[in-house]
Amino acid sequence: MNKNSLVSISDYTKDDIWRIIQSAKSFEEQPNRSVLQGKIAATLFFEPSTRTRLSFETAVNRLGGKIIGFADAATSSSSKGETLKDTISMVSNYVDLIIMRHHLEGAARYASEITNVPVINAGDGANQHPTQTMLDIYSIYKTQGTLDNIHITMVGDLKYGRTVHSLIFGMSHFNPTFHFVAPEELRLPEVYKNFCDKHNIRYYEHTEFSEDVINVSDILYMTRVQRERFTDLIEYEKVKNVYILRNKMLANSKDNLRVLHPLPRVNEIAYDVDDNPKAYFIEQAKNGMYVREAIICDVLGIPCK
Ligand code: CP
Repeated sequence: MNKNSLVSISDYTKDDIWRIIQSAKSFEEQPNRSVLQGKIAATLFFEPSTRTRLSFETAVNRLGGKIIGFADAATSSSSKGETLKDTISMVSNYVDLIIMRHHLEGAARYASEITNVPVINAGDGANQHPTQTMLDIYSIYKTQGTLDNIHITMVGDLKYGRTVHSLIFGMSHFNPTFHFVAPEELRLPEVYKNFCDKHNIRYYEHTEFSEDVINVSDILYMTRVQRERFTDLIEYEKVKNVYILRNKMLANSKDNLRVLHPLPRVNEIAYDVDDNPKAYFIEQAKNGMYVREAIICDVLGIPCK
């Protein structure tokens, strides 16, 4: 096991989060550095991805390292029945870093326990997406000028949305107030509400996505209904269009409000929002590249100021 692996945002203390933010700021000023020369990273994506994989691979390239891996498990020997344990053991023979996305919750933790190579969790089922959380936190910091006392409204699939679950943990250090907007079927699981209760974090649950809740928010965190997590697609059809943010709904929102979304979007943010200066989700995804440069250096113990 490598102690530098990042498998859950709970692996980070408040100081760790600040360290990554400072490092990401520095990478934003100077993204191209030759600090990974001679190093090879593997991107093992057992689930589809656009942003996470490509921003990680861009980050490695900008740092002078090399990449191997797969973007589709069907092209790997896991499709022939090879176990995750054997795949990780093999890849560990070749590389200095493993970046992995998997549909099973806990897969990244398991991988980190069977290899000495650091593992970065790029999403495990409905559980965690810690590097997304760091780029979300970086985006909140950049747009709000602080992380303290932010009102964050999370909208959509709070049951299966791993980015929601990670962000609750990540922001818990900064006295947030959460508004959880979800239909009954996609309500936030009890474990996350219990976490908020235990840490004295204020939260309010809503089933209606109203302008009242938008207008008290600093951050509006929209999410996609996660079709791939439903066992019954009839249930997905019932809730897939439950909330759609339209530009007119932002008319009386706070000046500092920013709309975030981990992406991909399906139809939960109407395209008329895109030209509103409060729409931040494209810049948010760009921030991911700098944050991932910072995290890669951090897990490899490469100092980057
Ligand atoms: N936010 C995110 O994880 O996007 P991808 O699925 O495209 O990587």
